Amino acid sequence: MGLRLDLLLLVAALLFSPALSDLVILKVDRRVDLTSQIVRVTSTLKVENNGKDAVTEVLLVFPDRQVKNLAYLFAVSSAGKGKAKSYSHTLSVNEINLKGMPPSLVGYLVSLPEPLSKGESYTLDVLAVYTHSLKPFPEKITQADIQLLVFEDSAYYLSPYEVKAQSLTVKLPQARIESYTRIENTKLHGSDIKYGPYENLPPFSHSPIVVHFESNRPFAVARELVREVEISHWGNVQVTEYYNVVNRGSEITGEFSRLEFQARPHIRGPSSFRNLVAKLPPRAHSVYYRDEIGNISTSHLWSDSKKTELEIEPRYPMFGGWRTAFTIGYGLPLQDFLFESEGKRFLNFSFGSPINEIIVDTLFMKIVLPEGSNDITVAAPFPIKESKETKLSHLDLVGRPVIILEKSNVVPEHNQYFQVYYTFSSISMLREPLMLIFGFFFLFITYIVYMHADISISKSSPSYLAKMQWEEVQAVIQQVENIVSRCLAVHEKLEASLQDLSRTGVVQACKSARKSADSTLKELYKEMKPLLSFLQSSSQAAHILPKVEELLTKERELQEKLMTKHLTVVDCYEKKLGGREIENRINAHQQKITVLRQEVDDLLDYIDEL
Ligand SMILES: *[C@@H]1O[C@H](CO)[C@@H](O)[C@H](O)[C@H]1NC(C)=O
Ligand SMILES: *[C@@H]1O[C@H](CO)[C@@H](O)[C@H](O)[C@H]1NC(C)=O
Repeated sequence: MGLRLDLLLLVAALLFSPALSDLVILKVDRRVDLTSQIVRVTSTLKVENNGKDAVTEVLLVFPDRQVKNLAYLFAVSSAGKGKAKSYSHTLSVNEINLKGMPPSLVGYLVSLPEPLSKGESYTLDVLAVYTHSLKPFPEKITQADIQLLVFEDSAYYLSPYEVKAQSLTVKLPQARIESYTRIENTKLHGSDIKYGPYENLPPFSHSPIVVHFESNRPFAVARELVREVEISHWGNVQVTEYYNVVNRGSEITGEFSRLEFQARPHIRGPSSFRNLVAKLPPRAHSVYYRDEIGNISTSHLWSDSKKTELEIEPRYPMFGGWRTAFTIGYGLPLQDFLFESEGKRFLNFSFGSPINEIIVDTLFMKIVLPEGSNDITVAAPFPIKESKETKLSHLDLVGRPVIILEKSNVVPEHNQYFQVYYTFSSISMLREPLMLIFGFFFLFITYIVYMHADISISKSSPSYLAKMQWEEVQAVIQQVENIVSRCLAVHEKLEASLQDLSRTGVVQACKSARKSADSTLKELYKEMKPLLSFLQSSSQAAHILPKVEELLTKERELQEKLMTKHLTVVDCYEKKLGGREIENRINAHQQKITVLRQEVDDLLDYIDEL
């Protein structure tokens, strides 16, 4: 009821602006494309001037709830028919606030290229692109369910003018249609629903329709996309795109079974999408794709002379409500995007995301210009919020100027070229290489200084310390071996004194030989003590220490056995016992001594080989 009253008010308002109300729409054909998540409505309008005065503008009206989702509106003159249509004449479209316009409606004025005189007609095409206007219903489904969507509109064209003839075609994806509103002249042809023709309808005629249908097309929405384009005058444009993507389709509830999904993905997860395809410019190189975990090598890349295609496959299938964040990066040849005009350089680059049929809620385009760029201006085909910042990277003195272009509700139709103009003196271009040359020179000097300072610097390095310690351990072990050898020499002297005894029978000489041997060994053991405790305290000696300790123990045993043997032999001589008796008494000791001596020699060899 409220809307009706609003419309009557508007009709009244239009009566006061005769140039608008003199128009009649002879024919309007509308085509609504619902084959992706983005709704595209193309209307071909044939308008005629029935008044006396020339008309220069056509008024388009939209309900405000549609305008909320209106991402793109475009009008062209439509000359010819079908494929021969020429899109040469883009018409300017501006939002207006007509006096008396009700708040539930929004108006746009299309300027005609030439005034339309009495009785003349003109045909134009209007493209309106909407985001988020297909509503999942039910809102929540399980993994195995298909996704159903609801679309609402009016079967009649919302027009401030009388409409003589009209029709509407709703194109659906080729799948199940749950239900659709049937009114007079409604037909279903395959996956197209046709409404009309309807004739001679007064201004603001309205007939609501609802279409409920299956669609498992990806509902990929980038809640935020940052595209960073960095220009290097040395031949490269580096593009890095940071995506934060969500599937805005029906949310899935219940458990997700990856096993079931992998076994039969089309049956067990029809509403999910597994991949996205990005159409990059031709000659893109060094392409990569990574997410929070790291580089993903399963992405695929195709290229020909017209484009480079990158297939992005998230690590898991994207069900409704699921999110993923990833980055893609690539380099482009500078000469394809940077040009010169009237003493200024300019970047000519495409806005929008290169990913097919993605909606971007908020897009930030960051153009990083070379350091020293000045007089920066932007030319864009649609309104964009503009701001500036500075990016500082290595080799920069004052930082690079960054132009930030921000736009919400971005659709593939926004993949249009914009330009960033700037001035730049070639001298500035030499700054970086000069800095590099000085930089290398500085590095060279530093290197020389470093080499000279090498010994003092590297002394503190852990590997150097370890090496030093090991050398110390080796020196100490050599001293230990040396002492053991000297002990063995003392043993030999003791043996020699026993042989002397058997020849001369002088017990006294033998006794004094033992005494001196005893004190020499004591001296040697005293010398050994600090060496052993050094080895025990050094971590570098840990692996060799047990062998050293074994060597010293065996040497001790050997020495004790020798002393016992020596004492026994001397005792026998003093008691004047015979040779055989002596043999018997020392026999057991002698065997032990031979074994021990062999063991000591083996241990010495082992340690020596380290
Ligand atoms: C990913 O690959 C790009 C290009 O090959 C490389 O520059 C980047 O360092 C890689 N990142 C990781 C985390 O491996
Ligand atoms: C920008 O590049 C496009 C595609 O190459 C081209 O059609 C357009 O004319 C260029 N714009 C300017 C201002 O050079």
